[in-house]
Amino acid sequence: MKVLIVGGGGREHAIAVSVAKSPKVDKLYCVPGNAGIAELAECADIKVMEFENVVRFAKEKQIDLAIVGPDDPLVGGLVDELNAAGIRAFGPNAAAAVLEGSKSFSKDLMKKYNIPTAAYEVFDNAADALKYLDNAKIPVVVKADGLALGKGVLICNTLKEARNAVKEIMLDKKFGTAGNKVVIEEFMTGREVSVLSFCDGKTIKIMTSAQDHKRAGDGDTGLNTGGMGTFSPSPFFTKKIEDYCKKYIFKPTVDAMAKEGRPFKGIIFFGLMLTEDGPKVLEYNARFGDPEAQVVLPRMKNDIIEVMEACIDGKLSKIKLEFEDNAAVCVVLAENGYPVKYAKGHVITGFENFARKRNYFCFHAGTKKTGKGVVTNGGRVLGITALGADLKKARANAYKATEWIDFEGKYMRHDIGKAIDEA
Ligand code: AMP
Ligand code: GLY
Repeated sequence: MKVLIVGGGGREHAIAVSVAKSPKVDKLYCVPGNAGIAELAECADIKVMEFENVVRFAKEKQIDLAIVGPDDPLVGGLVDELNAAGIRAFGPNAAAAVLEGSKSFSKDLMKKYNIPTAAYEVFDNAADALKYLDNAKIPVVVKADGLALGKGVLICNTLKEARNAVKEIMLDKKFGTAGNKVVIEEFMTGREVSVLSFCDGKTIKIMTSAQDHKRAGDGDTGLNTGGMGTFSPSPFFTKKIEDYCKKYIFKPTVDAMAKEGRPFKGIIFFGLMLTEDGPKVLEYNARFGDPEAQVVLPRMKNDIIEVMEACIDGKLSKIKLEFEDNAAVCVVLAENGYPVKYAKGHVITGFENFARKRNYFCFHAGTKKTGKGVVTNGGRVLGITALGADLKKARANAYKATEWIDFEGKYMRHDIGKAIDEA
């Protein structure tokens, strides 16, 4: 079959590597892709939000299955458009992707169905939000309702910061219409765990757990980023916690979406916090995490196409998801200055070191092929991933592999997976 992947980051490269392993796949396409994906797929320079062009391309190439990676096109309804044109697509339709697309929707859903999450209020005007803050417990979390490139969540340690956050989001419209509403939420503490799952509208099967490192600097300092590294599995996501989440969070979420007339087919990513009062949902995403996919997918034993087709056809209950009994660590190599201001166009060397090594992956994120070779083309450049028998070995392997790659301005965190030392 012919498969099209929509997206061009490290997540889509990891999806492409998994898809390329499937014996069902004859030909792989990707829009827009990147220099790494181009080694596996025929890429076309079409942006993920150019729906008409994506659909036209899919029809032209007679695509049998389209896989949509990023949040924006999912929330915007690309799956609906592909389906309307008769193309099978993996990912939630717009009605279901609202689970990620609107934080007020997801919070109200959790409240209605008793799914554990932080206490919150939703406001659609700044005056009410500011008035509410006067009596709110500090620290407090202010979130833009809509998609904001992962930057719409502000943890506020003073009342002044919180008031500023409301002003920036609602009055200055820092995140555009994503800030038409805000969610003001109780601040929680605890370890964070990412759990990704496949859903077919009624059945949910969870994948192995992972943990992201969102801050730019070592020791969780500096600004929030798209993610500087991940490890999988999380030793803190124990069998007991898993059982609790299955009963009170995972299955109830899928059932709630079905009851609301928004059956969810695709990936639900549960961002969880393990608090003293038990696991609570921080957020839902309607897609694979980036860079969670880079540590979860290399450990998956199943044929990903088989699983995705089962999701589309409502037959997921027949699938047994299986993961290797090992571990993976991904260290993101970024351009110095990310996530604020950074250069592009630096030549990257050392890719040949990854050739023919089964347990090492060099996932491309912000890269581009040019006459000079492959150059940096974004803040997060590569996700260096390694497997190992356990987390410590995977971490040592991943850091060793970061030395194989070089480019001017190469920056990384040195403590990815350090938390596992406390497990
Ligand atoms: P989100 O995009 O909602 O996952 O938020 C981004 C990050 O902000 C999360 O990964 C947490 O580290 C943090 N965060 C979000 N909500 C809360 C909360 N209620 N309490 C504490 N931290 C939070
Ligand atoms: N790594 C977090 C995310 O993909 O949203």
